[in-house]
Formats: sequence, structure tokens, C-alpha cells
Amino acid sequence: MGKTISCSVLLTLDTIISCFSLQFGTALDTITPSKSIKDPESIISQSGVFRLGFFCFANSSNRYVGILYHQIPVQTVVWVANRNKPVKDSSGILKISDDGNLVVLNGKAEILWSSKVKNLVPNATTAQLLDSGNLVLNNGVNSLWESFEDPSNAFLETMKISTDVKKGRKVEIKSWKSPDDPSDGNFSLSLEPFNIPEGAIWNNNQLYYRSGPWNGQKFIGVKIMHTVYLAGFYLVSDVKHQTYYVTYQYSNNSWLLYHELDSQGKLSERHWDAEKGEWISWYPLLQTDCDVYGKCGPFGMCDPTKRPICSCLKGFKPRNREEWSRGNWSSGCFRTTLLQCQRDNNNGSEAGQGDDGFLKLKMMKVPAFPDWSSVIYSECKDQCLKNCSCVAYAHDDGIGCMFWGPDLIDVQKFSTSGVDLYIRLPSSELDKGKSNKVIVITTVIAGIVVIAISALFLWCRMAKQRGRNKIWRQIEDVEENLIGAKLQQLPLFNFEELATATDNFYHTKKLGQGGFGPVYRGTLDDGKEIAVKRLSKASGQGLEEFKNEVVVISKLQHRNLVKLFGCCVEGEEKMLVYEYMPNKSLDAFLFG
Ligand SMILES: *[C@@H]1O[C@H](CO)[C@@H](O)[C@H](O)[C@H]1NC(C)=O
Ligand SMILES: *[C@@H]1O[C@H](CO)[C@@H](O)[C@H](O)[C@H]1NC(C)=O
Ligand SMILES: *[C@@H]1O[C@H](CO)[C@@H](O)[C@H](O)[C@H]1NC(C)=O
Ligand SMILES: *[C@@H]1O[C@H](CO)[C@@H](O)[C@H](O)[C@H]1NC(C)=O
Ligand SMILES: *[C@@H]1O[C@H](CO)[C@@H](O)[C@H](O)[C@H]1NC(C)=O
Ligand SMILES: *[C@@H]1O[C@H](CO)[C@@H](O)[C@H](O)[C@H]1NC(C)=O
Ligand SMILES: *[C@@H]1O[C@H](CO)[C@@H](O)[C@H](O)[C@H]1NC(C)=O
Repeated sequence: MGKTISCSVLLTLDTIISCFSLQFGTALDTITPSKSIKDPESIISQSGVFRLGFFCFANSSNRYVGILYHQIPVQTVVWVANRNKPVKDSSGILKISDDGNLVVLNGKAEILWSSKVKNLVPNATTAQLLDSGNLVLNNGVNSLWESFEDPSNAFLETMKISTDVKKGRKVEIKSWKSPDDPSDGNFSLSLEPFNIPEGAIWNNNQLYYRSGPWNGQKFIGVKIMHTVYLAGFYLVSDVKHQTYYVTYQYSNNSWLLYHELDSQGKLSERHWDAEKGEWISWYPLLQTDCDVYGKCGPFGMCDPTKRPICSCLKGFKPRNREEWSRGNWSSGCFRTTLLQCQRDNNNGSEAGQGDDGFLKLKMMKVPAFPDWSSVIYSECKDQCLKNCSCVAYAHDDGIGCMFWGPDLIDVQKFSTSGVDLYIRLPSSELDKGKSNKVIVITTVIAGIVVIAISALFLWCRMAKQRGRNKIWRQIEDVEENLIGAKLQQLPLFNFEELATATDNFYHTKKLGQGGFGPVYRGTLDDGKEIAVKRLSKASGQGLEEFKNEVVVISKLQHRNLVKLFGCCVEGEEKMLVYEYMPNKSLDAFLFG
């Protein structure tokens, strides 16, 4: 995305000279009422990380004032002042205006952009560019305006994405129209309080992506939000004052790293690879179609590993069968059998609550817009049953009980992580074993003979089922033993060892990223160079595939293709440790 600077505006001798003379000025990071900057001058933050000045994009004569990374050879813009009103030539000027605001003017002294603070004291404000990339207008005592409170498409370290409900104020990240047009695009990233705060990406005014609720450590709807990957993120809620913000800060800030919302609405994490001389991006949020909000409509469930990706939850059918089969899932599904409580209520009765039950769905992205209660886990179910509008519940240790109704929207099946979601269904829709009641009632009416027949029939079926299960277990046992034997021949590494070898799986150690998760380069204590393939919990590569991969590679070993040193299985972590060979064939192999 970054382009080297090749603007169509000519650098005249004059401007080059003025550029040089700037280097010898006083405070290089500050604009004062008596010191403005003219295109193409700039100011530089104290230790030289960022610069503020005029720039343009290739093939365009539009000039912008922005903040850019200063020490790298690729033009990287993290903030733009006059994003919607470029200067059409090189006559632009950035100054403190008479009213004390920071303004961008064109050659005709028309204001193209202003910091728009009211009631400033003239001649008393200055604007300073900090090493964090924040441009601060202050009066020597207070900050009056900050670029961090009016962001462009970049989410920099220590910047706060915030929402103040009472004041109706939001600080959000806004996408550009295109990589070389910084004017307002269609997407924005904000923090939404809902009932439990979550991150959201909007496409114009439509919800496009949601992160799931924050549980004190992570957003539970982000598949790969391990603390190891995203250390440094935290969210602060002040429920009383209804203010919320999310920010991040790494302990080692010598990495050049930031987040960008691109013009397609994807949030990427970008880090500068000094060896390759380029930004490396990866996309933790929108990875599959299932991540798009409401893909499968109300009561639909999205599973990126299935074809088609959408299905109706158990007990529901497509609302519009024809659209559904064409792959337009937006109208979702409807309940085929009323809940018991719905029937009872229609007849004005409170009884019969016991006749609804819950179906447990494991490893789910929870639906949108939960209601919340602090009751303990064991009470979630009862609380939901008491209220006929409650159609599902879930529990997270960091949150408490979550309830949903009347609709369930944006339900996704994860292959790992996620939470258990309990869907309310009438008992007739639940497992056959539990619907014995219905059978019993019928059989009582029909007579004892029928009971005998039913019992016999059930007994036969269960016996058959038991036999079938036994066979499956035997097959699995054989498989386990076969694969288990292979695994036992391989050295096992523990998690600590591999974390140490890869500097805690740090970004710059990353060789690349595949659908299954990232691959890191590392060095063992004995100096051996290794490549660690860390299978993402979200990769869909379960223990089975993992074992199969181990077997396949073990077989390949003797052909000297790539050497598998060992593996690591600890809790949910699954990793393969290869010999590191810095050539293409290994890359191709590792990344499929
Ligand atoms: C921009 O300019 C470069 C050469 O400077 C050219 O190769 C490229 O096609 C141009 N792009 C557009 C969109 O005009
Ligand atoms: C600001 O100060 C300059 C000289 O330092 C003076 O010429 C100018 O009139 C002052 N402007 C205002 C609005 O006070
Ligand atoms: C933004 O949305 C409008 C209207 O939906 C569409 O026409 C336009 O192409 C979109 N722009 C981008 C950059 O996707
Ligand atoms: C921080 O990053 C720098 C630059 O790569 C590295 O040299 C240094 O060892 C790191 N410090 C810590 C404490 O990890
Ligand atoms: C899908 O169906 C909805 C509801 O009927 C309709 O509004 C929408 O235009 C359809 N989308 C497409 C892509 O056909
Ligand atoms: C409501 O009760 C009446 C009898 O009082 C019964 O006929 C009817 O089927 C009930 N309705 C439902 C929806 O269960
Ligand atoms: C019943 O549950 C729904 C859905 O969670 C909720 O919106 C509503 O406030 C609840 N009603 C009561 C009285 O608790």
C-alpha cells in the first residue's frame, strides 16, 4: 500500500533550499503563531519517529498535510488534516491562525481545514508533534485539541478509540476512499457500549463486523485473540459516567507497529520489516465471509468450514427457501415448533415452563446484543426459562450470564475457542430421549399393549446403537494407537521452551501466516535454528489433522524434504517444530 514518494509536484530549487533551512530552526517539533510551515516544509517529532508536513500520492497533484513515519523509505501516512479538501498546488500553508486554531490554507488564504476549537486566546497556542504520532494543540497548560482525538485510518499505540454516551461523542477510526485517496471512505471502527462493550466496524451506517463482548481480557468473538498475540490491548469502562475506551501499548515500543482500517473495511496489524524494507500486514478480524455481521440472518448459523456456510439452528427452517438455496441467507430462519412458554402464554397460563429446554452449542461466537446479568453460572438457565422472550443464554467467567431475545443474529461456529451457547427449544425438538413424555402420553391413551411394543422397540434401538458405538470406539482406538506410536517417537517440546526460542512468538520472528496460523523462526538453547508452526485455535485444524500432518511428515523425513524436530501439544496449543531452512521450498511447504 505504501508508495515511495514520486509526486507530480516539482521540487523547485526554492523549496529545496527552504527544506534545508528548516533543519537549522529552533524547536523542530512545534508550530507557533510566528512559525508556520509552507509546502514542502515539515516538522519532526523529538526523536525523529514522525514528521508533520505536506505530502501527496503518486500521479496526483493533490497536496495534503499529514503525519508520516519519518525514518522509513516507504511513504506511510498515519493521519491527514485536510483529507476531504486537498490543496491543488504547492501553495499550501499550515499555521496557527489569528483565532489560535491550527489551520491549513491554500495560496488564496482559504481555510481548507481547521482544528475548530472555540474560544481560544489568540497568540497563546502552539502545536507540537509528539513521538507517539500525536499532534497536540495546547496553550502551555492544557491540551486543547489532539490529532489522536480526530483520527484518520490509523490506530496508533496509546491512541484511544472511545465513546462518551452522555456527550454523544465518539473517537473512531475512519477508512479512506482508496489507498491513494484519503477522503472519507465507507467504513469506520468504533467501540460500542451495547450492554457489554464491543468493537464494531460499520459500513456507512450498517453494522459490518462485531468483535463480541469484552470479558476483561479479550473480545470473546475474535477467534485468534490470544493474550500472546495481542498483549497490550485493554479496555476501560466507566459505567457510571458511560465512558468507554480501548487502547493498546506494547512493553517494547521499539517495534514499528500500528493498525489500519483499509478502504475495504478490513483492520490489519502492520509491522515494519526492516530487512525486507516493507510493511507486513495480517488481518486478525475479517478472515472469512462468516465474520461479516448477520451473514446467515436471524437464527442462522455460519460455519466457515461447511459448504454452504449457512445453516439454520436446530428447530428452525429457512424463512425463504428459494432465496436460501440461491445463497442469499439474509432473511434467516424461523422456528418450526412454538416454544412451550409461547403456547402457554397464548392461553394466559403461567404453567408448563418445564417443557422448554436448551440445546448446547459448543465453541460459538455469541450472537449480537446480549442482555446481561451478574448471577452465577448455575442460575443463568433458570433466569432464561423464567422469561419467554429469552431464546438463548451463555456464560463467560469474565462477564457473567448473557441472554438473548427475541432474535439470534450473527451466530458463528468456531473450530476452537468461543463459548458454549444454549439455545431454547421446546422439548419436542430436543433429543428423542428427552421427549419420552409425549410418547408416554400417547401410549397411555393407546393402552398397555402399545407401551410394551414401544418399550421393546426402544430397547432394540438402544441395543443396536450401543453395538454401533462400540465398533466406532474400536476403530478410534486403533487409530489412536497407530498415530500415538508415531508421536511418541518424536521429541516433545514444552510450550515455555518454544516461547523462549521465539521471543514469546513476537511479530518480527514471524516468517509468515497461513490459514492454519503463523510460523515463527526461533533459536533453541543449543543454537539450533527452528521454524515453529503454531496452529491457530481458529484454523480448523483439529487434533486429527494435526496428527495426520505429523504422520505425513514423519514419512517424508527420510527423503530429506524437511526435517521435523518435534512437536508440542499443551492444552489448546498445538505446534510443530521444523528445522529452519531459509529457502523457498520450505516456505511453500510450511504455508501450503
Ligand atoms: C502512475 O504513474 C506510474 C508511473 O509514474 C504509472 O506506471 C502508473 O500507471 C500510473 N498510475 C495511474 C493510475 O495513472
Ligand atoms: C500576535 O502577536 C504578534 C507579534 O508577536 C502581533 O503582531 C499580532 O498583532 C498579535 N495578534 C493578536 C491577534 O494579538
Ligand atoms: C462506498 O459505498 C458506496 C455506496 O454503497 C459505493 O457506491 C462505493 O463504491 C463504496 N466505496 C468503496 C471505496 O467501496
Ligand atoms: C526491544 O526491541 C529491540 C529492537 O528489536 C530489541 O533489541 C530489544 O532487545 C527489545 N527489548 C526487550 C526488553 O524485549
Ligand atoms: C437477498 O434477499 C433480501 C430479502 O429478500 C433482499 O432484500 C436482497 O436484495 C437480496 N440480496 C441479493 C444479493 O439478492
Ligand atoms: C389453548 O387452550 C385451548 C383450550 O383452552 C386449546 O383448545 C388450544 O389448543 C390452546 N392453544 C394452544 C396454542 O395451545
Ligand atoms: C426477557 O428477556 C429479554 C431478552 O433477553 C430481555 O430483553 C427482557 O428485558 C427480559 N424481560 C424481563 C422482564 O426480564
